[in-house]
Amino acid sequence: MADISVQVLDDGPLLVTGEFDLQDGSGSGMTKDEGRPIALCRCGASENKPFCDGLHKNCGFSSSVKA
Ligand code: FES
Repeated sequence: MADISVQVLDDGPLLVTGEFDLQDGSGSGMTKDEGRPIALCRCGASENKPFCDGLHKNCGFSSSVKA
């Protein structure tokens, strides 16, 4: 089993931790800092998609997902 975790942050991004490949829509690899978690935007406001750039704090995004 892969050792990857995805945490849905309240009112914010998806925080992805572990070893994984991040690919664009054509399947090409996207650069990321190996070993560092990445935050993927889920509010739609980021100017650096698919990554979170913090703009969720200013766009009124609200989402709290409970397991
Ligand atoms: S979740 Fe952070 S900019 Fe969208």
